[in-house]
Amino acid sequence: MTTPAPLSQDELKTLVGQAALQYVVPGEVVGVGTGSTVNKFIDALASMKDQVRGAVSSSVASTERLRALGIPVLDANEVRSLAVYIDGADEIDGRGYMVKGGGAALTREKIVAALAQRFVCIADESKLVEVLGGFPLPVEVIPMATAQIARRFESLGGEATLRLKDGQPLVTDNGQHILDVRGLTVSDPLAFESEVNQWPGVVTVGVFAHQKASVCLLGTAQGVKTLSF
Ligand code: 5RP
Repeated sequence: MTTPAPLSQDELKTLVGQAALQYVVPGEVVGVGTGSTVNKFIDALASMKDQVRGAVSSSVASTERLRALGIPVLDANEVRSLAVYIDGADEIDGRGYMVKGGGAALTREKIVAALAQRFVCIADESKLVEVLGGFPLPVEVIPMATAQIARRFESLGGEATLRLKDGQPLVTDNGQHILDVRGLTVSDPLAFESEVNQWPGVVTVGVFAHQKASVCLLGTAQGVKTLSF
């Protein structure tokens, strides 16, 4: 008998994207994140598009995908609260704290997450870590503050580089830039997020501790594991 081939990372993303449908509340507006894992969720959501009032989206890319599948997208200002926000992560630890922003959408992701009563993180098992910091930490910054913010990270032992796209500084949906910071260990995510958020010129730091996950649907070789925090 041959052993079945292990599921690829893409297949694990599909599994968790589909599993997230169980958290979508019929008749409500759902918060939708950004990234390749969320794209699987959006594709799955199309199967129940007649059961939701629509979505609040965290990026232009997700908005376009949602609309292409016939799912209405509402402005975040049109809703007071969301039952659930579904998004991926670059890293998640055993307490539900995350690093996000690999797709440069961290600011809008944090805004939509802050509207939601529940944050459901969908991720393949490669994203589960003991301590945050292995993935370069994305920080959205106002361009004129880039150099001083980079120096502040250097004083903490990090190395910040400006994210480029096609040889030019990447411009976010909000018209700002992204620094990626390597070499940090974020052992106290709540304190770290609070500290960096108040540096002048920082729009959003990619540590999601104040808006941590309530649940993580983790795609593993054994299937989808549900971690509750
Ligand atoms: C985008 C994000 C994403 O959630 C994160 O980068 C994970 O992406 P993927 O599902 O493609 O691995 O924070 O800003």
